[in-house]
Amino acid sequence: MSQPATKVIIAGCGIAGPVLAVFLLKQGYTPIIYERLESFTETGIGLCLQVNGLRILSKIPGLVESIEGGHLERMLFHSVLPEDEGLLADFTFPSQPKEKVGMALGVRRPAFHRRLIDMAIAHGIQVVWGHQVTGLEQHSDSVTVTFQNGKTDTASFVVGCDGIHSDTRACLFGKEPADFTGLVQIGGVSPKPSGYPFEKLTMMNVFGNGEHFITYSVDDTHNSWAVTLREPEAKETWRAMDQESQEDFKQHSPFASWGVGAGELIRNATKIVKYGLYDRPQLKSWHVGRVVLLGDAAHPTSPHLGQGANQAFEDIAYLTNLLEKYNPQAQQPSTDLLEKIFTEYEETRIPRTAALVAEARKQGDLRVASGVDACKQRNQIYHEMWGDEEVVKKRYAALLDHNEK
Ligand SMILES: Cc1cc2nc3c(=O)[nH]c(=O)nc-3n(C[C@H](O)[C@H](O)[C@H](O)COP(=O)(O)OP(=O)(O)OC[C@H]3O[C@@H](n4cnc5c(N)ncnc54)[C@H](O)[C@@H]3O)c2cc1C
Ligand SMILES: *[C@@H]1O[C@H](CO)[C@@H](O)[C@H](O)[C@H]1NC(C)=O
Repeated sequence: MSQPATKVIIAGCGIAGPVLAVFLLKQGYTPIIYERLESFTETGIGLCLQVNGLRILSKIPGLVESIEGGHLERMLFHSVLPEDEGLLADFTFPSQPKEKVGMALGVRRPAFHRRLIDMAIAHGIQVVWGHQVTGLEQHSDSVTVTFQNGKTDTASFVVGCDGIHSDTRACLFGKEPADFTGLVQIGGVSPKPSGYPFEKLTMMNVFGNGEHFITYSVDDTHNSWAVTLREPEAKETWRAMDQESQEDFKQHSPFASWGVGAGELIRNATKIVKYGLYDRPQLKSWHVGRVVLLGDAAHPTSPHLGQGANQAFEDIAYLTNLLEKYNPQAQQPSTDLLEKIFTEYEETRIPRTAALVAEARKQGDLRVASGVDACKQRNQIYHEMWGDEEVVKKRYAALLDHNEK
């Protein structure tokens, strides 16, 4: 006799939620996604999908090919520090046959987010909007979730994919404010200037004194960009600056006159967003009983390694591989079995993500080095890190090593 399908509640329909849902569906589970927002909302600027994340997304047939974005061909580092001006590194990504996953794909976050949600819905997954998870009650063989609107639902287990301000995490481990890194970003999406260095689909870092600028192509005609600065705390809202501040930034900020196309990108932006950069300290565990955390809910990071979304995809691959290994028929799991799976998942994922969160912080601080000597030193570090093709190739190989096999 066949058992009833094993239902899984996913809290959060951000970047991780819809992808996890499709992986679970393919294994025979019945996932349902609950999202706090009332409907799909276009927020954020750009994301850089890297080879480790793309490999995982490519397990969903047709997905990667259908993502609108720019397959990055080249990575550049420039210094605009008057005392040490010039090119620091110019790296060409190894060319990839078209049908294969590239090394890095720049995307607009809103379009990518929408694509993932549409993909989940096309698989028949139910997405329920306007339901903010606020409470969890564990039973011997299920979990009951309570929502802000007073409704409840019950499932075999729950995965909290509800981002940096995760209520699932707060329910399990208590509410703590996120840690401000001391850095803020101001960014947007703009038409790509012509000529150097934009002949190819490019990611470029530009270093000043106490300032860093990054840009990457999100398609053939547009680049996303962001300036990183050390500033007093700004909220992590991803909302646009008011019109007056946007105009002021375009016309009067020192970056607006930067060379190598950086200034032109800033001056031509249609919408400029300002947000603080936050992360959280490493947790000892990501689960309690039948509830587990994934993505930013478990390990929010500052963006300087471009690994936020990619690490969420690695989490998905590890977690679903373990479910496949220990519960291949997707039967109703006992709490003991789930705890075994969640513990093994954490043992691999916590050290890996904690190291990347720490490294992203370090890179952020290094990028906005201030004072001529510190800046020259920083320039030298980036020259060594990216100037030697063999060193870069090894780093990419290491990134893939961690990927599930
Ligand atoms: C609005 C927004 C804009 C962003 N823009 C960028 C960007 O431009 N560049 C960048 O590098 N990173 C951006 N990020 C962060 C990036 O999306 C994540 O680092 C990464 O993709 C990991 O995805 P995630 O699914 O774990 O978290 P997220 O993508 O943050 O998704 C979490 C989802 O959970 C929902 N949620 C929150 N609480 C609850 C609850 N209690 N119940 C149900 N649902 C809940 C949120 O509304 C959100 O949809 C943004 C995040 C957000 C929320
Ligand atoms: C940026 O704006 C200027 C002034 O309007 C314009 O001349 C230029 O072509 C724009 N650049 C791009 C890439 O659209």
